[in-house]
Amino acid sequence: MLSLVVLISGGGSNLRALLEASEDAEFPARVVAVGADRDADGFAHAEEYGIPTFSVAMSNFPDRESWGDAILEQIRVWDPDLVVLSGFMKLLPPRVIAALSPRLINTHPAYLPEFPGAHGVRDAIAAGVTESGASVIVVDNGVDSGPIISQERVPVLPGDTESTLHDRIKVVERELLVQAVLDIANGVVDLRAVGQTRSR
Ligand code: GRF
Repeated sequence: MLSLVVLISGGGSNLRALLEASEDAEFPARVVAVGADRDADGFAHAEEYGIPTFSVAMSNFPDRESWGDAILEQIRVWDPDLVVLSGFMKLLPPRVIAALSPRLINTHPAYLPEFPGAHGVRDAIAAGVTESGASVIVVDNGVDSGPIISQERVPVLPGDTESTLHDRIKVVERELLVQAVLDIANGVVDLRAVGQTRSR
């Protein structure tokens, strides 16, 4: 059984998808704790499922590194097999990523490397593209630049707003995330090998 710590910042609809998937006894992963950089609305999902939460606000720390160390300390309490960033809107410091990699994945509402960063959906609308997507990646020190585990195209429809497009993307994003966790738990995806080009 793969133990997960999920980090969120917002509503946690992706977190909820994992919680609902884990209601199936056959699903080989369980969320053991949910963390955030604020008192996130998505904590309500964790509380509904009786899952402990922790909040580590950057404003309580003198710098990003000490904030990151505090988050890492919380994560280590649970000693998870995998950490999932899902709507977590802060960049973790390199020291945290080094400590967790490659057992640290992230979901992004665009077809990476298209539209990385905090406004991927808004940027796709502004670019006038006819399709965007959703991606699940292994986190590296860049901004949404890590090796891609899975991704899927999502159409942009005439008249789409950031909100209507994001809602359509999230449906796919949730499916990709649950499948990625399943594949990692079942060994179908080896996080150490994702993105490694085969040596000739
Ligand atoms: C997701 O699309 C995530 O990829 C992006 O923000 C959204 C968060 O949604 N960073 P939720 O909090 O999971 O509902």
